[in-house]
Amino acid sequence: MNIILLGPPGAGKGTQAQRLVEKHGMRQLSTGDMLRAAVKAGTPTGLEAKAVMERGELVSDAIVSALIGDELDSMGAESGAIFDGYPRTEAQAESLDSILEARGRKLDHVIELDVNEDALVERITGRFTCASCGKGYHDTFEKPQVEGTCDKCGGHEFKRRPDDNAETVRTRMAEYRAKTAPILPVYEVRGIVSKVDGMADMDEVTAAIEAILAK
Ligand code: AP5
Ligand code: MG
Repeated sequence: MNIILLGPPGAGKGTQAQRLVEKHGMRQLSTGDMLRAAVKAGTPTGLEAKAVMERGELVSDAIVSALIGDELDSMGAESGAIFDGYPRTEAQAESLDSILEARGRKLDHVIELDVNEDALVERITGRFTCASCGKGYHDTFEKPQVEGTCDKCGGHEFKRRPDDNAETVRTRMAEYRAKTAPILPVYEVRGIVSKVDGMADMDEVTAAIEAILAK
């Protein structure tokens, strides 16, 4: 199965993708995570992406589509893919069609996380992740069970994203509205879009997504 999780910054794409990975052994393909890894490693892609990401703008279509193609090539054909944060423009949506077709895959579901933008700034500015395993947390909504210790791997170091500040979040949301939301109709005409209430409790969102995948 190949699915897209679509929604603005802080909608819960990463949170829900991690849960699907754990439950179904699918692979999460997050272009944001891939770009952050490239920035950390100081690769040419990372050097090009760093300042763009810090401003909250979109990295070039060619870069992210190449990352997705490479990642799919590194997976077994039987592994399901969860696209998290990709595609984000009409050009990327077109590239994804060709990328999937070339690999004999088809898109099964586009799941839109429907959220109230006003609540997202709080979600994003409170977010942190385990520095060792990447598990996501939130200062208010999802604290580690033992303060300072990762529930998943027992690590003690946590990190926050440099683009998770109120000002950059506004730019990221404006980018979503201008460039990403307009790709939804492309998938709506194919009849593969399902809308989920992303403001519900995390477990309820997971249950709603599971119900769609079971259809
Ligand atoms: P990316 O990393 O994709 O960031 P984003 O789209 O801005 O989305 P986020 O990761 O901020 O949000 P999320 O939906 O994953 O929310 P999460 O689950 O963490 O992209 C970063 C940058 O990289 C972009 O700005 C761009 O520069 C570049 N980039 C990436 N992909 C690109 C592409 N395709 N093209 C061009 N450029 C690209 O949840 C947020 C918080 O809320 C967490 O703390 C979580 O615990 C909490 N939470 C989640 N769900 C709930 C809930 N139901 N109730 C309460 N709290 C919740
Ligand atoms: Mg994310």
